[in-house]
Order: sequence, then C-alpha cells, then structure tokens
Amino acid sequence: MTRLLVTGGAGFIGSNFVHHVIRNTDYSVTVLDALTYAGNIASLDGLPMDRFAFVHGSIGDAELVDSLVAAADAVVHFAAETHNDNSLSDPSPFLTTNLLGTFTLLETCRRRNVRFHHVSTDEVFGDLALDDADRFTETTPYNPSSPYSSTKAGSDLLVRAWVRSFGLDATISNCSNNYGPFQHVEKFIPRQVTNVLSGIRPKLYGDGLNVRDWIHADDHSSAVLAVLEHGRSGETYLIGADGERSNKDVIEWVLELLGHPRDAYDHVADRPGHDRRYAIDPTKLRDELGWRPRFVDFEAGLAATIQWYQDNRTWWEPTKDATELRYAAQSR
Ligand code: NAD
Ligand code: DAU
Repeated sequence: MTRLLVTGGAGFIGSNFVHHVIRNTDYSVTVLDALTYAGNIASLDGLPMDRFAFVHGSIGDAELVDSLVAAADAVVHFAAETHNDNSLSDPSPFLTTNLLGTFTLLETCRRRNVRFHHVSTDEVFGDLALDDADRFTETTPYNPSSPYSSTKAGSDLLVRAWVRSFGLDATISNCSNNYGPFQHVEKFIPRQVTNVLSGIRPKLYGDGLNVRDWIHADDHSSAVLAVLEHGRSGETYLIGADGERSNKDVIEWVLELLGHPRDAYDHVADRPGHDRRYAIDPTKLRDELGWRPRFVDFEAGLAATIQWYQDNRTWWEPTKDATELRYAAQSR
C-alpha cells in the first residue's frame, strides 16, 4: 500500500482528492492542514479510519513536516493561500505559505528522498485575449498578474530548480478553475449560489465577459492521481476539460437553475488587474497519460453542485456572513 501525505487536504480540491483516492485506490492518506479560514475538517467526514489520518499543523513547521514526510512514500501538495481578492487586500500570508511553505516541503522531500507532486494553477501564465485562438500549453511563458498567482509561479519555479539542481523526484500540474462540492463560499460559483439561497443578489465583477475554463474537482483529482502514478519525473502537465464559459453566462445559469430571472444580479466594482481569459490545452495529459474527464457536461455538473449546496447548508452557512463582510469592505 502506498502512503500519501496530502497537504491542504481540508480545503476544496484537497478534500475532493482525498475522497477520490480512498474511493479509487488502496492507498493510505495522511492530511496535513493548518485549518485556516479556508479549511473545513467536515469536508473529510466519513473516511475510513484504518486508511486515513488527520494532522493539524502548518507546512511551514519543518520539524512536523519532517516526521510526516519520513512516514510517506509520496507528498501531494495542495496547501496554499488561494483567493485572488484576499491576495490584493493582504499579500503577506501568500508569500509565507505559497513560497516558504513549499520551500520547507521541498527541502524535506530532498533530504528524505520522497516523491513530490506540486499542485498549481493556470494563472501562472497570466491571461489570454477573448479572441486569442491559442490556449495555454506546457511551454507558455510565465506571466502572473496577482500576488496570488505570482507566489504560485514562484513555487513552481522552486520545484523546477529542486528537480534540476538536486534531482528531486517531482512533477507539477497546472489546472484551470475548479467547481464542485466543498468549495469555500468566497469563490465565484459557491458565492453566487449561496447568495441566492440567502436572499442576496449575485455579484458580477466588471462587465462579466471574463472567461474561465471550468473543470469538476473530481476530474482534477483523477488527473493529479494519473500524474502522480504515471507522470514522468521533472515534467509539467496542464489539466483542463474544455470548459470555457464567461462569468456572465455562469451567473445567468446559476439563477436559471435556481428558478430566478436570469438578470436578477448586480454588476459590482471590477477586481484590480482582473485576468480576462484562461484556457487550457490538455493535449499532453490526454496523449501521454490517456486521461479523460468524466464531467463533460458543465451545465449538468453545475446543477449537481447547486444541489450539493442546497443539501449541505450546515457545511457553508457558518462562513457566509464573515465572507460577505470581507467583500463589503472591498465594495465587491
Ligand atoms: P482552498 O483555499 O480551498 O484550500 C487550501 C487549504 O490549504 C485549506 O484547507 C487551508 O487550511 C490549507 N492551508 C493553508 N495554509 C496552510 C499551511 N500553511 N499549512 C497547511 N495547510 C494550509 O484551496 P483550493 O481551491 O482547494 O486549492 C488547492 C490547491 O490547488 C492550491 O495550491 C491552488 O493553488 C491549486 N489550484 C486551485 C484551483 C481552483 O480552482 N480552486 C485551480 C488550480 C489549482
Ligand atoms: O484558474 C485557477 C484559479 O481559479 C485558482 O488558481 C484559484 O485558486 C481560484 O480561486 C480561481 O481563481 P479565480 O480568480 O479565477 O476564481 P474566483 O472564483 O475568485 O473568480 C472566478 C471569476 O469570477 C473571476 O473572473 C472573478 C469573477 N467573480 C468572482 C467573484 C468571487 C465575480 O464576477 N464575482 C464574484 O463575486
């Protein structure tokens, strides 16, 4: 049995990944998570205790990280500060966790000679014009826009340097926007869904023509597992599921699926430096590893996700008011 150490496993994608691994492999999983505002231990409910353990702590705690890496066959690194709007209000934790935290993990994996997979984002490439025929590939130059994306870009470069300079056995994946269960209500889709369920009008930044390339978190999980198991050491793989939609289209779908008029939302102040469009070309992942997404109908996946938020109010309601207060302070 393979022993995985999963950092950030109480967050959105990390928790989806842990459920995916437990369902689809015989691996054991230890989660290391600091339970910041973004972590929720309830997202890990129901896992079999003979194959799963939770450790509350930070990836910046070198002693703790060393003891956990020593007992692992591979590390899958999700832990990060992840929200662009927060990175504009206060970049400081983004530098600490995304850069220094990743550095601590890399040094430990190097010393312990443990396989490392780094989970990253398409935002490291900056953005595309709406009418650009190209999509991001593994060779697109890095050009991040925000404090969040620049710290993720920096962490990717640290991984590449540890591969080349020290021969670390590592891979990187850069994925597009995820949706699905267990996503924090600060993020676009859960914010709009829980706004409607709370009697608040959805909020669209700027003109809303910005495009995101949506993928279900379970498809991201299967892709990360494929790279972990079959990816070539030192390589980068882009993960995407051909899910480009404008924010305006998504917000109107959310309203329609919840039985409200499609125009029952407000335009609010745009995000400073707001990236226009992300789009992933997943050819390498598909051709080399044979990976395919399962959720190919975005509108059906969105409807199931909306249903999950309707069925799991106790999961998100405790965080809703504080999140909206943070947005109100930013006039968004
Ligand atoms: P999230 O914000 O939902 O969860 C992050 C988790 O990391 C939380 O559980 C939090 O408690 C934990 N954490 C934060 N700082 C920590 C620290 N110092 N030590 C230990 N744990 C810490 O994030 P997410 O959306 O699930 O993203 C997970 C990873 O996937 C990130 O690396 C992100 O950059 C990447 N990613 C996200 C998306 C997306 O659409 N959400 C897309 C591509 C890549
Ligand atoms: O592309 C991958 C990235 O996707 C990840 O690396 C990030 O961690 C993740 O947060 C996400 O970044 P975005 O900035 O694209 O996601 P967010 O959910 O914050 O916003 C999605 C789009 O919706 C973006 O164009 C901004 C817009 N938006 C967002 C919110 C919260 C709105 O129009 N209204 C809103 O209320």
